[in-house]
Amino acid sequence: YRVEWDLETAEKGGYEHFMLKEIFEQPRAYRDTMSPRIDGNRVVLPDVGLTADIIRGIRRIHIVACGTASHAGLVGKSVIEQLTRIPVETDVASEYRYRDPIITSDTLVIVVSQSGETADTLAALREAKRQGARVLAVTNVVGSSVAREADHVILTMAGPEIAVASTKAYTTMLIAFYLLGLYMAQTLETVTPAYVADTLAAMQKLPEQVEALLGKADLMKKVAEQFKTTENLFFIGRGLDYAAVVEGSLKLKEISYIHSEAYAAGELKHGTLALITEGTPVIALATQEALFEKTLSNIVEVKARGAVVLGIANEGHTELSKTANETLYIPRTLPLLTPALAAVPLQLLAYYTSLARGNDVDKPRNLAKSVTVE
Ligand code: G6P
Repeated sequence: YRVEWDLETAEKGGYEHFMLKEIFEQPRAYRDTMSPRIDGNRVVLPDVGLTADIIRGIRRIHIVACGTASHAGLVGKSVIEQLTRIPVETDVASEYRYRDPIITSDTLVIVVSQSGETADTLAALREAKRQGARVLAVTNVVGSSVAREADHVILTMAGPEIAVASTKAYTTMLIAFYLLGLYMAQTLETVTPAYVADTLAAMQKLPEQVEALLGKADLMKKVAEQFKTTENLFFIGRGLDYAAVVEGSLKLKEISYIHSEAYAAGELKHGTLALITEGTPVIALATQEALFEKTLSNIVEVKARGAVVLGIANEGHTELSKTANETLYIPRTLPLLTPALAAVPLQLLAYYTSLARGNDVDKPRNLAKSVTVE
């Protein structure tokens, strides 16, 4: 007999879809993005050109991007503010460029773009430069328009991403923000050298922790089977968990076509609770230790209205299993780093839900990988 190989099958490397392949490539992508930038206990950003003088002159930061990249920016905001105490604003590029933002010569504008070719992001970059800001690009594509026009570039090393729904490009953007935040903080001495060393050590464990989470794919498959027929679904979380579920919710919407909303868990009682009825799926992310009890009480609230809850928390929080219908535990890391782990089960959930609904996982309707027109 003859085995027919088309190019696409070959490129998928044995996976059924590009998205699944790209999800499973993340341990490698994390390592490639991190390792050239870690030298012992310090972050090095060779070729980025952010000198100590430049960093000391930054008074405010704007993070501007579209879609998934803008969600990486939400995590980036928390990371940079927490590490450096420099105020950070985030905006989607299509709003930023038309809202007359306050841009000064001591503003650093960080544009985030997997492709480096998104029209709105590029226009925002040009507007920021026109107004005298310094621009740093976080992008996955060497030589892209955004990379060429920015003053400074941090490349993510995700490798080519084919599936429209972004996975490894998003998580490597998170790694880039951790590196940038630590780099600025070690320069400004807003954190101790020991803090930098501990955080880098924890970051270097992320790839194997992602491997462990990939090993739990079957649980996400099972939950996808339970949730596949719903028309509405909610994600809740607080702090960095909120930033993480905003992306988890987008991922699910993009490829499953289920209407989904991400809510800051404490905001539920101000409206959304009215939409939680018998059988409504709720995915609750509770990895932020300081906020665990608060989120747990929100889980109790939605359960009392009939919600079916998938709870995700750090290993050891066995009390969650008593409240949630399904529980996934993620390996322990520093609170700042949990979005780089939590993303993985949420990607798998979106993937398996899309698959269970018979959708075209890699090419969702109405969406393009890169939007180069306004
Ligand atoms: C498109 C894609 C999204 C992506 C967004 C920004 O809408 O479908 O997945 O997040 O563009 O793309 P960029 O290449 O700028 O990160």
